[in-house]
Amino acid sequence: MSIAHGIRSLGVLGAGQMGMGIALVAALRAKVPVLLHDRSPEQITKGLSLMDKLLAKDVAKGRITSEQSKEARDRVTIVGGEVGVKGLRDVDMVIEAVSESLPLKQSIFASFAAELRLDAILASNTSSISITKIAASAIPNNVSAASEEGKKSAGRVVGLHFFNPVPVMKLVELISALQTTPETLDRARAFAVACGKEVTTSKDVPGFVSNALLMPFINEAIMCLEKGTATRDDIDTTLKLGMNHPMGPLQLADFIGLDTCLAIQQTLYEGTRDSKYRPSVLLERMVDAQWYGKKNGKGFYEYDS
Ligand code: 3HC
Repeated sequence: MSIAHGIRSLGVLGAGQMGMGIALVAALRAKVPVLLHDRSPEQITKGLSLMDKLLAKDVAKGRITSEQSKEARDRVTIVGGEVGVKGLRDVDMVIEAVSESLPLKQSIFASFAAELRLDAILASNTSSISITKIAASAIPNNVSAASEEGKKSAGRVVGLHFFNPVPVMKLVELISALQTTPETLDRARAFAVACGKEVTTSKDVPGFVSNALLMPFINEAIMCLEKGTATRDDIDTTLKLGMNHPMGPLQLADFIGLDTCLAIQQTLYEGTRDSKYRPSVLLERMVDAQWYGKKNGKGFYEYDS
């Protein structure tokens, strides 16, 4: 028997490429009202214009009617920066999709714990950071982690890892923190399924399954380039034509964001202390140079902004 997710309203924190994509599949596929919050008005404008473009393309391709497109768009409400997390107070579930920084996520989950209802599910779209560490920050001040209230508060935290581009990629990785309750896991899984996704589960290890496998692969490709084993194009073409990957690893790194790749690799390396995860110097230098990939126009390739 399928489990009801019971989500009547969703908050999404962060309107970048991941947050916007999550808001879109939730509004269009799961048909839930979405409150989309970002501190940056520019990010909101960019996110909404991409959402409109993707909905219009689905209508043009006959996948949805213009009424369905309008209904989905009408389900998305913007919560501006000045309102903050308080604006998400009444949601049944929130998904955090900000950049890969543990202190940032900890402060966000502390404010979720202060502002949101105790029965609201608190999900993180983190690519690699420990869900257990994030859950430990979702306990109100002056409440012990071992108390019933502390266990309940941290028990509603879960990892819900979407893939980029969210409307296209079929997978969501579900990660249980040490504290996550079975009910939270079941409801989060049911919600991802309602968004049209297949779900795999992973233990709370650095990078989970997906990035523990993907990031050494990307890093090895960057090291091939660094050592002069092959050119950029030959590395990517080898993987595209030889292994049928839709993108070569260097193009994929640009697509994910080189800053994001580095942050994930650092989490993997620090979390495992295994030298196989050490980020390449070239990746570090490119991020030092603020070459972040497709998102800002320069990475291994150049892009129109
Ligand atoms: N947002 C939404 N949709 C997009 C998109 C985007 N940024 N980019 C492309 N698409 C859509 C297109 O609109 C098109 O849709 P359609 O079938 O309805 O017309 C469809 O994707 C195919 O696009 P194109 O025909 O233009 O191009 P491709 O066939 O080359 O596909 C791709 C583009 C789907 C991005 C494909 O290259 C691909 O699958 N690349 C690999 C992506 C990948 O591996 N993602 C996972 C990254 S890892 C991750 O996210 C985890 C994180 O933790 C790091």
